[in-house]
Amino acid sequence: MPRIHAVIPAAGSSTRMGNGAPKQFTRIGGRTLLERTLQPLCDEARIARILVVLAPGAELPAPLDCGARIEIEPIGGGCRAESVRNGLRRLAQSESKHDFVLVHDAARPCLGSDELARLIDLAGGDDVGGLLAQPVGDTIKRSGDGRVAQTVDRSGLWRAATPQMFRLGILAAALEACEDLTAVTDESAAIERLGLRPLLVAGEATNFKVTTPADWALAEAILRMQKRW
Ligand code: CTP
Ligand code: MG
Repeated sequence: MPRIHAVIPAAGSSTRMGNGAPKQFTRIGGRTLLERTLQPLCDEARIARILVVLAPGAELPAPLDCGARIEIEPIGGGCRAESVRNGLRRLAQSESKHDFVLVHDAARPCLGSDELARLIDLAGGDDVGGLLAQPVGDTIKRSGDGRVAQTVDRSGLWRAATPQMFRLGILAAALEACEDLTAVTDESAAIERLGLRPLLVAGEATNFKVTTPADWALAEAILRMQKRW
């Protein structure tokens, strides 16, 4: 039976937060954002190893308070995809290429247990793998010089989230094949370059990425709603 592992890229520098502090180590309701993000993965019994990729030299403000199975590796790269690739290289040293890997942003603290389980069920049973995503609900505009240049047909458009789940061997090979990792903003994009078509698994709008300062209050509201505060 293939095992399931997780890689958590947590080596970013949070420039859009604008306060110089890495958001993954910022506390929200007494726990770091990273701990909040790890919790649903720790609660999912089907996940074997959880590898957190930190920037070289980064140190946790305190030992993580969210259970066993977590390994911390200061092997982050210059962009998200490079951090993920380095994490996959580490896993591939000891795990089968047939195992699955879930890649999940450290900055998504509100992932629901149900959507995580659904992703594992559906992507784990798919030949290619898949990702949590959401159909676009808003009307979409393309801009030019600060004005509307065009209304874009939103039918068929989805917002890609994480986790994204693929076979370790395929995802590692897909990322190793990318010459410019900065152009690869999610795992699916690397898989797509192989000519494969990942499965879109409908996820919740609450699984958003904490990016700007206003997002802290939103994350708090969602965590309270989820009774996880
Ligand atoms: N990440 C990473 N290594 C990088 C850049 C990003 O592991 N070199 C991680 C971040 O820590 C985060 C996830 O990728 O968990 C998504 O990235 P993002 O939300 O963009 O975080 P930052 O890159 O830190 O923020 P910003 O883009 O505002 O600088
Ligand atoms: Mg970034």
